Amino acid sequence: MKKTTFPVVSLPRRAVLRSLLATPIFACVPFAALADEPSKPSRPTKSRDLVVYYTYSRQTERVAKRLAKTLGADLYAVETLESYPSEPKATAERAKEERRLDRLPKIADKRPNLSAYDRVFIGGPTWSGVVSAPLVRYLRETDFRGKTVVSFWTAENSDGVQYRRDFAEQLAAPERKPALLVDENIGFNAVKETTDAELDAKIAEFLPKLSPVPVSPPKIFAP
Ligand SMILES: Cc1cc2nc3c(=O)[nH]c(=O)nc-3n(C[C@H](O)[C@H](O)[C@H](O)COP(=O)(O)O)c2cc1C
Repeated sequence: MKKTTFPVVSLPRRAVLRSLLATPIFACVPFAALADEPSKPSRPTKSRDLVVYYTYSRQTERVAKRLAKTLGADLYAVETLESYPSEPKATAERAKEERRLDRLPKIADKRPNLSAYDRVFIGGPTWSGVVSAPLVRYLRETDFRGKTVVSFWTAENSDGVQYRRDFAEQLAAPERKPALLVDENIGFNAVKETTDAELDAKIAEFLPKLSPVPVSPPKIFAP
């Protein structure tokens, strides 16, 4: 299959970092400070991690599933009610219009209640440099107050700068302000050409930078 490359807007790293760090939602607090201590050690430990993803061609799904497995986290796939065209270029055009006109696609309503979670990992493909329209819809419609949000992205070939800025903007709407967005650039380029072992190695590399959480057997929110 012909490999497509996409233009990526590259911004000066320092300027972006400085402005992001000045944004309150980017204040990264130690997760331990947010986690509830179990009142009795004998009580079953609840999973406090959720991995949310949107996928169009199953690459983010691969990453999300491996991430959830490593974390022992629950998994939730954002699904659109209407499918996108099978041709990526047509999908890109449609998604750009949806975002431009703010007519985001409707997504299935079977969503997990976030009250059971402290951390929510949210991943999706990079579409024209930014967050995919279905994931924007999910971000807009979800209340992340009090949660630590960890964003991850997949792309053909991107530095993730534009994606992260867009993600932060979507999350930073006034009603969702107290969400904490962890300032880690967690991205996976060319997932199709990446082995499972390589994905696991990459996951193992960034996870220690985040504080650990207790886990229990995961649930899958099936479509
Ligand atoms: C509509 C569309 C737009 C895309 N735009 C970009 C882009 O701007 N930059 C990039 O590196 N990859 C781009 N890609 C490639 C995807 O981000 C990449 O293949 C991703 O891993 C696919 O994840 P998914 O299979 O979970 O949908 C695009 C793909 C599609 C379908």
